[in-house]
Amino acid sequence: MCGIVGYIGEKNVVDILLQGLYKLEYRGYDSAGIAVIDKDSNELKIIKKVGKIRNLESSMKEDGFFNINTEIGIAHTRWATHGEVNEVNAHPHYDEDKTLAIVHNGIIENYNVIKKWLEEKGVKFKTETDTEVLLYLIKYYYKDDLKQAVLSALKHVIGAYGIVVISKKEPGKMIGARNGSPLVFGIGKDDFVLASDVSAIKPVTDNVIYLEDGHIIEVTKENYKILTLEEREVNAKVHTIDWELESWEKGNFPTYMEKEIHEQPNTIINTTRGRWFFEKGELKLGGIEPVRDLLKKTKKITILGCGTSWHAALIGKYWFEYYADISTEVDYAAEFRYRNPIILEDQIVIAISQSGETADTIGAIREAKIKGATVLGITNVVGSTIARETDAGIYLHAGPEIGVASTKAFIGQLTVLLMMAIYMGRMRRLSIEDTLRVSEEFKKIPDKIEKILKQKDYIREIAGKIIKYNNALYLGRGVNYPVALEGALKFKEISYIHAEGYPAAEMKHGPIALIDENMPTIVIATKDFLYDKIISNIKEVKARKGQVIAIATEDDEAIKSHADYVIYIPDTIDMLTPFLSVIPLQLLAYYAATLKGYDVDKPRNLAKSVTVE
Ligand code: F6R
Repeated sequence: MCGIVGYIGEKNVVDILLQGLYKLEYRGYDSAGIAVIDKDSNELKIIKKVGKIRNLESSMKEDGFFNINTEIGIAHTRWATHGEVNEVNAHPHYDEDKTLAIVHNGIIENYNVIKKWLEEKGVKFKTETDTEVLLYLIKYYYKDDLKQAVLSALKHVIGAYGIVVISKKEPGKMIGARNGSPLVFGIGKDDFVLASDVSAIKPVTDNVIYLEDGHIIEVTKENYKILTLEEREVNAKVHTIDWELESWEKGNFPTYMEKEIHEQPNTIINTTRGRWFFEKGELKLGGIEPVRDLLKKTKKITILGCGTSWHAALIGKYWFEYYADISTEVDYAAEFRYRNPIILEDQIVIAISQSGETADTIGAIREAKIKGATVLGITNVVGSTIARETDAGIYLHAGPEIGVASTKAFIGQLTVLLMMAIYMGRMRRLSIEDTLRVSEEFKKIPDKIEKILKQKDYIREIAGKIIKYNNALYLGRGVNYPVALEGALKFKEISYIHAEGYPAAEMKHGPIALIDENMPTIVIATKDFLYDKIISNIKEVKARKGQVIAIATEDDEAIKSHADYVIYIPDTIDMLTPFLSVIPLQLLAYYAATLKGYDVDKPRNLAKSVTVE
């Protein structure tokens, strides 16, 4: 969603801001803009454009923006919430005499009340945004100390924000603040940067402070100071970004999504490194070790997430029940937070989120905590809100995921869930013999994924056959039922072809009415104990002239007589099949979308981290 960058220092400000915007592109946006203070004229120079950053860059070239002598500036990618997508509503916002400029992520919930109040005082608004209201509230309090003005304004604000504000009256200063929307502060050699995402900071420095909710930061060229809204000074810890700059690049791949699909064997290796000792059948999960006693006695787990993370949770449920004998329920974070969930004594809630910033998941965590649950987090982003708000947790170590459609993070989430299930299983009834068996099999998964990736040309060919249809059905059973849901989600979100996932047995209770020669059905039909049943489901589809694409276990020759196309995956133990069955489905979606000419990394209307409800 929206992205922020602010920079102060002697390097090329315009260039750093622009590169920062490019780095934030993956989050999803519809317009972008930059504001800098011209050192020669002491004027605020602002440029905004609807559409891609490269449009903004071309206009900047035409307007001579790159020649401005400046040491401070702010920039923003907007994903519209209040007001339509146009230049006026894009950020940075500025006041009528161009003294102040602001960039803002989040939503000011009481903006209407404040707007009315300011209008009564004569303020004329030119945009429909909540951000302009915040800007004029700051201006209302602004005499000659920007930090004090921001502090005074924020005391009246209800809602979520990450902001950076600059003023031409104090051209050597930027003020940042956060509440519920991420803001990270980067400490360079002789410069500072504020951004909503470390990707925009990495080109400047590796040293960062993750600002906390209710913190405000005053940054000058020489120094910085972090305060609470009550003006108590904060001594914040400096962290090091441990992701390499190359991990934000596409390398030799045409898209981030393709790169990330191919990184999955490595994701498993990185996620298990130093944690899962396959030969000994041992697991060391330092992140959840502090709650070990609770893990041992808990009788119920609830797993929460949204979208693909919710699908990972559904698969996790099978593992927690199978390996750890623990009753497990899964809920959409947005549903959990607004119903009245029952939390038992010693219950554990696990929140899963790639970004660690999904608003609904954060809301659900807070609700679970109010109700007394211990909440564990599974996230990919170090220092993210979910990482900080949960009681304990495990990072994916998957490296940055840039493609909007989650692939390698999903594999990382599955890996962590499986490790947790086995770890907790060992505290209960899971024997060393069974642990060694699953360890031995799991060790082979990365190579087996590589083998599936080699079939990409064949999968592209199948994608070519089905892109002419308007609908597709995905079926799976048991632990592969959530994989069917994930396959359908991947397919629809990037190819814009409607797709639905179902537990295969449910088909006859309704969806079967849709089957005809124009409705391809993708069926996960691996050789497990439900194999015969899924073959019956395939026959039901064929009897209605439906086309079937089967994901089958290699050497299953018989399935060729039932399905129109068969994509083979290597054999593994039943519980581990999701790691393999999801790969052809990711590739099928990927090629369907690219063959239709769509931008898979930035599908329409979607954002990488969904920071609004
Ligand atoms: C789909 C996808 C989304 C996310 C969802 C939750 O490919 O990526 O469905 O899974 O928005 O995001 P996180 O995991 O960041 O909480």
